[in-house]
Amino acid sequence: MRQKVWKVALGELLDVEGVVAEEVMSRDQALLLPVGVSLSALKETQPDIVSLLLKHGVTHVKVKSVPVITAGEFRTALNSVTPSVVELNPLLTKIAIHQFGAIYENVEDRSLRERGIRTMLTIAARLPGEIRRTPQITLSLVGAEDRERESPHIHSINVALLTGYIAQRLFPVLPAFVEACVVGGLFHDIGKAFFPQFSWRSATGSGGLFPGDAKIFNCHPLLGESLMKDVGVRDTHVCGAVRSHHEKWEGAGVPDRLRGENIPMAARIVAVADCFENLTSNLLEDDPRRSDQAISTVIGLTSSDFDSRIVRGLLASIGLYPPGTVVLLSDQRVGIVLETKERDLLCPRVLICADALGRRIAPFETLKIRKEGNVYIKEALDDFSRRKLEPYVPAAAG
Ligand SMILES: [Fe+2]
Ligand SMILES: [Fe+2]
Repeated sequence: MRQKVWKVALGELLDVEGVVAEEVMSRDQALLLPVGVSLSALKETQPDIVSLLLKHGVTHVKVKSVPVITAGEFRTALNSVTPSVVELNPLLTKIAIHQFGAIYENVEDRSLRERGIRTMLTIAARLPGEIRRTPQITLSLVGAEDRERESPHIHSINVALLTGYIAQRLFPVLPAFVEACVVGGLFHDIGKAFFPQFSWRSATGSGGLFPGDAKIFNCHPLLGESLMKDVGVRDTHVCGAVRSHHEKWEGAGVPDRLRGENIPMAARIVAVADCFENLTSNLLEDDPRRSDQAISTVIGLTSSDFDSRIVRGLLASIGLYPPGTVVLLSDQRVGIVLETKERDLLCPRVLICADALGRRIAPFETLKIRKEGNVYIKEALDDFSRRKLEPYVPAAAG
């Protein structure tokens, strides 16, 4: 992921926010500063570092900007801007992750497994309301701790949310269908619960599938569908989404090699959301792509893999710079996208967090990028939403 890197004179080093971008070595090749050290941490732990570097003849240090903003600060800033930007209820996410974990753990025990899936269905029923309440793709899509980010459950929740956003955008007058899409998105990979040891990363990577891997990979949609039917789910959209989310528009998918319009609509939506989520998450990708890069990849797969209407729906739902994208502005300031309007995908509202030198500003300012204005988005740097967020602690009552 590219980030802004610049040279800082030694005298200013401890006044700048960011991390060391390149190893600093002494003339006799001793390591003076390792890559990735936070300058603010350095200031606290080694205030005499500047004189040490000076002694070794160092004059500049390469620094990489990281918008140093905690999840708490970000949420406070979100609450302070008007019109307000609503965040998905993080507690709901936590509960869903936990519940998925319980299903995976007890998948061999039929009664526990079915109880788990039924509970999950009640959680799923709350998601469409959250999606309607949140005008933009949620900023916490999905904010979780590192341990949880690696979890396949986060993937399922993100796919459910994305599916819901796209479905809502394309079928606003069909709320029951939107709900079914969300449920289908949430459970699309539930068949994987039977293969806890299987490396989905290698199976879905660019290296292709080994024959044995292909068998496992290909059967998870069918297993998932039968799990849903076992608990009495009869909705054709839900079952279709789970069974057919790996079908491809030109007929090269699994398990039924369906083609074009024969692929259930809910499955077509889940397929696009699934691909986008996989590209941007670190579950399957060593180097997850930024949202704008992932969108380009998805667009490139339109017509071979995806229904072009759904891809347009994805673009309309999240824009080129989805909320949470860290952006470098043309005047070198760094901000986080708060919201994008569908009609104006290049002109989001941005929360400015750092000045042109990468120094954090306080309080944060909001800026509406305007078509006719002087300031524009130069490039996307990273996704705040994919950064480590602190665990959400609900405010104590009273
Ligand atoms: Fe899948
Ligand atoms: Fe998936």
